[in-house]
Amino acid sequence: MNIPVQKELFERICILQESYTENNIVSVQQFSFEALTHLMNLISCIHVLTENNAMPPVLANKILAAIFYEPSTRTSASFISAMYKLGGSVLPFIAGMESSSVRKGETVVDTLKTIAQLSDLLVLRHPEKGIHTTLVANIFSPLINAGDGYGEHPTQALLDLYTILREKQSLENKTVTIVGDLLYGRTVHSLIRLLHHFENVHIQLVSPRDLALPREYYSGEKETESLEEVIGESDVLYVTRMQRERFKNPESYDQYKSLYLINKDTLHHAKNNLIIMHPLPRVNEIDPLVDKDTRAVYFKQVKNGLYTRMALMCLLLFDRNSHFYDFF
Ligand code: CP
Repeated sequence: MNIPVQKELFERICILQESYTENNIVSVQQFSFEALTHLMNLISCIHVLTENNAMPPVLANKILAAIFYEPSTRTSASFISAMYKLGGSVLPFIAGMESSSVRKGETVVDTLKTIAQLSDLLVLRHPEKGIHTTLVANIFSPLINAGDGYGEHPTQALLDLYTILREKQSLENKTVTIVGDLLYGRTVHSLIRLLHHFENVHIQLVSPRDLALPREYYSGEKETESLEEVIGESDVLYVTRMQRERFKNPESYDQYKSLYLINKDTLHHAKNNLIIMHPLPRVNEIDPLVDKDTRAVYFKQVKNGLYTRMALMCLLLFDRNSHFYDFF
């Protein structure tokens, strides 16, 4: 494999910055197809450079604040890891709000306005759908949505798209089956919107009727309650967890929690070149024995998340003028 030279990295960041000029990532709807294409190219470049220990510290002196009002393992850890890989630093106390002044009743806006004075990038997860849209009208620092309730999770969907394109080369004439809690699953909401950019991709939605995809994200896809009916045609199987924390009635969670279990039997009629994805965490949805199946890519997704978040931070923070002579 050819290792891209650092000049190529610089050019890919610059071309992406020219096609995506906003200083925040609130929704995947902000990405044009052109910007998405440039982003995928940049992630790929960062992937190779990082794997070969050749990634320059392009965000030296930049500080990330990861502010999570809901639990997280992957998203918080991968943003933090990504910033260190880029040579920057992380405010250490923000992930987990137990020790902050939120406990004294400080508003989200005031907390973010304060932390914005002390950092270069705010990454926020919050239970309220749409809160980031309100925040960007009040806070002018770079901001990334790390999940807004049952709204969107744009960075997860971007890493999912990168994973699909890396594993399958193209989405042309591919069938993507998305299964689970499509009502509350925010990663699905963002992913569907991204998939709508691609022609000739077939999307199949599998969920109980009560947990169907909200109509604001729906665009005429096939819907069914039966995974068995559609798994054989699938090239990509994207499995999601029942979002217990968002269920109003715990009994309905019990009813659905084991509805779609992916195991050896489920996969019996699946294609040999299927890829099995999951944003994680998983609870009941995928038998751990499936982890050894070469079709399972959900832990690769986590690694791809690192490169995706590195690329997104370069997009928002890289200063082509101040770094040019240092690195290239
Ligand atoms: N996929 C994802 O958002 O995982 P975390 O909740 O652990 O961040």
